[in-house]
Amino acid sequence: MTETATVMAQQEVAPGVYRMELSSPAIAKVAQPGQFVQVRIFNGNHILRRPLGIAECDSARGCFTMFYRIVGSGTRDLSLLVHGEILNVLGPLGHGFATAFHHPLLIGGGMGLSPLLSYAQAKRGACDILMGGKNAEELFWQSFYAPYVQKTFLTTDDGSLGSQGFTTTIFPQVLKQDTYDGVLVCGPEIMMRGIAKMAAQAGIPCQVSLEKRMACGLGACLSCSIDTTDGKRKKVCKDGPVFWAEEVFA
Ligand SMILES: Cc1cc2nc3c(=O)[nH]c(=O)nc-3n(C[C@H](O)[C@H](O)[C@H](O)COP(=O)(O)OP(=O)(O)OC[C@H]3O[C@@H](n4cnc5c(N)ncnc54)[C@H](O)[C@@H]3O)c2cc1C
Ligand code: FES
Repeated sequence: MTETATVMAQQEVAPGVYRMELSSPAIAKVAQPGQFVQVRIFNGNHILRRPLGIAECDSARGCFTMFYRIVGSGTRDLSLLVHGEILNVLGPLGHGFATAFHHPLLIGGGMGLSPLLSYAQAKRGACDILMGGKNAEELFWQSFYAPYVQKTFLTTDDGSLGSQGFTTTIFPQVLKQDTYDGVLVCGPEIMMRGIAKMAAQAGIPCQVSLEKRMACGLGACLSCSIDTTDGKRKKVCKDGPVFWAEEVFA
């Protein structure tokens, strides 16, 4: 469905990273963790919509939030919007994360922590989170996750917060501290591949959320097609963005 959404709040939560709250009751009512929206931005000259993950949902208030990093003209124009301005939002789109896990470990790197937040919120109190970033500044996410998760594990490339290294570096230690029935990952592909391999070795089901350049977001234009491990073609916008790791990583 498409909906005219009103900007309720917008704040810069880290350098170049924004949290936008939208009033969009129809989408907020039905969105599932890990789904995304395609946003039409009216300021500027943007023909294509921009795909952004749904991060937090408040169906009672009819609102959801998105976190995004400025990388080009669309996200820059988005960051200029203020309370009361409007966007057109298409969604909720795609298949999100499986919700049947009882105590999953969420693993996010960079902006990959955005769609995982919707899962932590929906499964309030059930998840642990392992978050990775380049430096302490990138791990502003802690306060947003705090109300929803049990344990938080932090790692930064430069060691400025938590342990030094990547999420793949401390994943084995985290696995020794608890028993997880699923691992849900979103972040750079190299990180997701590494985690997926280690989760498979540990015998834990793993889902990954992929990112591909998109145009229609509806499965019609094929611009987001990928090859799966069983030799089929799938569309990230419609069949994903969340896949079982073994479907997409050999
Ligand atoms: C399913 C999905 C969910 C996403 N969720 C988030 C999120 O929650 N937060 C966030 O910061 N970013 C997210 N992204 C990436 C985000 O869509 C791009 O950063 C954004 O579209 C860039 O737009 P731009 O105009 O600023 O950049 P430009 O580079 O000027 O964009 C030019 C074109 O390329 C497309 N494009 C550029 N980068 C990407 C990309 N990485 N993925 C897909 N299309 C791209 C744009 O949509 C646009 O059509 C997501 C991408 C996908 C596919
Ligand atoms: S974006 Fe058109 S098919 Fe996926």
